Formats: sequence, structure tokens, C-alpha cells
Amino acid sequence: MARVLVLYYSSYGHIETMAHAVAEGARAADAEVDVKRVPELVPEQVARASGYKLDQAAPIATVDELPGYDAIIFGSGTRFGSVTSQLRNFIDQAGGLWARGALNGKVGAVFTSSATQHGGQESTILGYLPTLMHLGMIAVGLPYAFQG
Ligand SMILES: Cc1cc2nc3c(=O)[nH]c(=O)nc-3n(C[C@H](O)[C@H](O)[C@H](O)COP(=O)(O)O)c2cc1C
Repeated sequence: MARVLVLYYSSYGHIETMAHAVAEGARAADAEVDVKRVPELVPEQVARASGYKLDQAAPIATVDELPGYDAIIFGSGTRFGSVTSQLRNFIDQAGGLWARGALNGKVGAVFTSSATQHGGQESTILGYLPTLMHLGMIAVGLPYAFQG
């Protein structure tokens, strides 16, 4: 059975909701799925003042756990047309995995949400693909034939 990690960052809960939907889909395809998130970087006072959803059930992931999965599906909201600094910071700690090719050949995918229809969803996802390539992952997206 394939082991899949849905790894996300979410300020307001949109990506959190999507992460659990992604996990449900992977489970329906008989994968063993964990949903985890990356640590918050915004100071707690600022996060609370900004109305962040701080009560999220998913445990915090560590970089060392990543090689234990066959596939990693990354989720992040769009921030000025790119992925969040929280996800970026987490993956910036994966230099050791990169150096020893620990994620080579594993499947990688990315999902995002934005506030506006043309707010940068595609640039967020496309901007993350070189990271998957550097890590040796095989990038997979929704095929055009998908009717959803
Ligand atoms: C600092 C910041 C920058 C954002 N930049 C964009 C953007 O470039 N385009 C857009 O459409 N939405 C933008 N948004 C909105 C979020 O991407 C959007 O609400 C997303 O669904 C939030 O997901 P989350 O609740 O999981 O964090 C931004 C939000 C914040 C807080």
C-alpha cells in the first residue's frame, strides 16, 4: 500500500479543508495517508490579531519524516502569487534530504487556493515545481481530462 503524506500550511483554514479532501481522495485510491502541517512562522500575537485559524488538528511534520513516504502532496495558499513562506521555510530545511537524494523517485504534487480567480494559483503551483525537480521527485498534476 502506498504511503502518502499531505503536507500543508494554512492561515485561515482553506488549505486545511482542501488537505483533508485530498487525503480522502488518496484513501479512496487505497493509499495509507497522513495529513500533517508545517510550523507557523508569524508571531502568535500577529496571527491572533489577523484572525488566523490556530486550532488545527493535523500534527506538525518534521523534515526527517519525508523519506518515509512514497508520495508527498504539498498544499499552500497563494501569497502574492507564490507559495507561503511557512512552506518555503520548511522545505528550505530539507537540504540534507536533497544532498543524499532521499526523495529521489518519489511522487510530488502541489495544490493551492487563492482569494481571487486570477490571483496566482497557476504561478504558485508552477513556481513550486522546480523544488520538486531539485528534490528528485516525479511531479504529478491533474490530467486535462479531469472533469471536476
Ligand atoms: C499575505 C497574503 C497574501 C495573499 N496573496 C494572494 C494573492 O496573491 N492572490 C490571491 O488571489 N490571494 C492571495 N491571498 C489570499 C489567500 O491566498 C487565500 O485566501 C487562500 O485561500 C488562503 O488559504 P488559507 O486559509 O489556507 O491560508 C493572500 C493572503 C495573504 C494573507
